[in-house]
Amino acid sequence: MVFYFTGTGNSRYCAQQIAVQLGDTCQDAFHLIRNGIAPELSSPTPWVFVSPTYSWQLPRVFADLIRSGRFSGSQEAYFVMTCGSDIGKASLGNQKLCQEKGFHYRGTLPVIMPENYIAMFNAPQPEEAKQIIADARPTLDQGIACIREGKDFPPVKTGALDGLKSGLVNRLFYRFNVKADPFTVSSACISCGKCASLCPLGNIRMENGKPVWGKKCTHCMACICSCPTQAIEYGKASRGKPRYRCPE
Ligand SMILES: Cc1cc2nc3c(=O)[nH]c(=O)nc-3n(C[C@H](O)[C@H](O)[C@H](O)COP(=O)(O)O)c2cc1C
Ligand code: SF4
Ligand code: SF4
Repeated sequence: MVFYFTGTGNSRYCAQQIAVQLGDTCQDAFHLIRNGIAPELSSPTPWVFVSPTYSWQLPRVFADLIRSGRFSGSQEAYFVMTCGSDIGKASLGNQKLCQEKGFHYRGTLPVIMPENYIAMFNAPQPEEAKQIIADARPTLDQGIACIREGKDFPPVKTGALDGLKSGLVNRLFYRFNVKADPFTVSSACISCGKCASLCPLGNIRMENGKPVWGKKCTHCMACICSCPTQAIEYGKASRGKPRYRCPE
């Protein structure tokens, strides 16, 4: 079973491609996370966990969901991590998660997809994004071939700083960066409620027709990137930047 988490659609696209090509089932983690339900899933085929990369690790919200769940049937686990550039030493974290869960770790596949983190970086323009997605195809296909043939994913090459990035920097990132306070909404808001309905953590409530953010944000960028009128900003950081959602 392909089990995925996504903020802006890149990981859904990859998960669906994998599932279709393997003839496997594909499940979105959205409703489980939103409703605080621990997964109880069974699969005769290997588990393929697909998600974005958040500060060179699996998103905490997704790792915690896997940690809380019961996964019966196959005990083989592959990880596919979409990213804007690199996943650091996330593979080590995934290996540890497998040890905790009793999974047989079969590797981590980084897939470079368009950057979505507009609270910090720039997202590509639509044409460039399409090209990045097309360029990701061979990596995805190689990963799918490994799963089909029951082989491990190839080991991820890591550099001298990768341990630091996925370790200390990741912890500092969650401590100091991941918060919803800087989100604002402008008069362009048409009160459609899309931001609130798409938040995987149910962190947005509508008050007098306008979104109000709570304290549970995981910085997935779904709200700010999905607003049909671009009424949401993240402090000054997002101003003038293209919003990104996977076009596929
Ligand atoms: C909070 C956050 C942290 C991110 N950290 C990284 C990172 O460490 N390395 C990287 O290459 N991309 C990083 N990105 C980019 C995303 O991993 C990438 O765009 C991903 O494909 C988005 O997937 P999604 O559309 O399924 O949400 C980050 C994005 C967000 C929102
Ligand atoms: S998605 Fe945008 S327009 Fe719709 S309620 Fe949220 S801020 Fe307003
Ligand atoms: S508030 Fe926005 S960025 Fe934060 S978790 Fe919800 S949708 Fe994602």
